[in-house]
Amino acid sequence: MNVNILGIPMDLGAGRRGVDMGASALRNAHLARTLRELGHTVRDLGDVDVALPETLDKHASAGLVFLEPILDACRAASERLQHLPEDVFPITLGGDHSVSMGTVTGNALRGGAAQRTGLIWVDAHTDYNTPETSPSGNIHGMPVAHLTGRGDAHLMGLGGGWTLRPEDVVMIGIRSVDARERELLRDAGIKAYTMKDVDQLGITRITEEALERLSDVTRLHVSFDADALDPTVAPGVGTPVAGGLTYREGHLLMELLSESGRVTSLDIVEVNPVLDTRNQTAEVMVGMAASLLGQRIL
Ligand code: ARG
Ligand code: MN
Ligand code: MN
Ligand code: MN
Repeated sequence: MNVNILGIPMDLGAGRRGVDMGASALRNAHLARTLRELGHTVRDLGDVDVALPETLDKHASAGLVFLEPILDACRAASERLQHLPEDVFPITLGGDHSVSMGTVTGNALRGGAAQRTGLIWVDAHTDYNTPETSPSGNIHGMPVAHLTGRGDAHLMGLGGGWTLRPEDVVMIGIRSVDARERELLRDAGIKAYTMKDVDQLGITRITEEALERLSDVTRLHVSFDADALDPTVAPGVGTPVAGGLTYREGHLLMELLSESGRVTSLDIVEVNPVLDTRNQTAEVMVGMAASLLGQRIL
């Protein structure tokens, strides 16, 4: 496959500093070399421009912290992805999870016209707050709501009229949902597999059900927040929640998605080297990408 890597070194959407270094940490953990060893052609496109928080005054307007510079970075990422050739498999490196508003729209709009796109959201959190429901004002807790047409008009405008259908979203690994966020999720009818579901059903059944549910989409984007994994496996994250996916559950999910041959793009987000232990989290996430892109045990 032709793999293109694009970094979005942004921590403006998160409550804690340091995820802007995630893209660099993932490159340092040999993402490109690992994928080349699997036989892929890999090109690193570098980073999109992101404003430095030190150059901005931190202010929230209408319940949104750093709205303007986040919009700019998401637009830049989306624009870059939209113009990539159809045969390219883009891997976007965060950055905090607000980058997904740019990556999901950019991948959906690739090739000129919007394609029906499915989203597999691997995360401890549902990231389904709006400015009204958010307890923090941090935009990384809001991307899926905006992608599916709920929330702030500027952030929803990133899709240029395209919105993700709520029925085309499947979430896996969920264990932290805010009270009012839960109401919105229910109202939107988003399918979410919690950690309880993972315990009871297992990753194999969940992946089969997810692929079945998304059988009508043309493109399939995986957005992998490192905090979906258990904090013992992935300690370098800003919003850790106990009781996450094990190392093998993460790999099995990626292996089964890989076998399906359906996935067309990937985000790796929320890797925070400042909070990590010797780049463990970036290394684990490079392994997850390798499993999604065809690495097999035998
Ligand atoms: N629900 C919390 C909030 O909205 C935490 C969100 C964490 N999101 C993330 N991408 N790590 O502020
Ligand atoms: Mn354009
Ligand atoms: Mn997230
Ligand atoms: Mn998360």
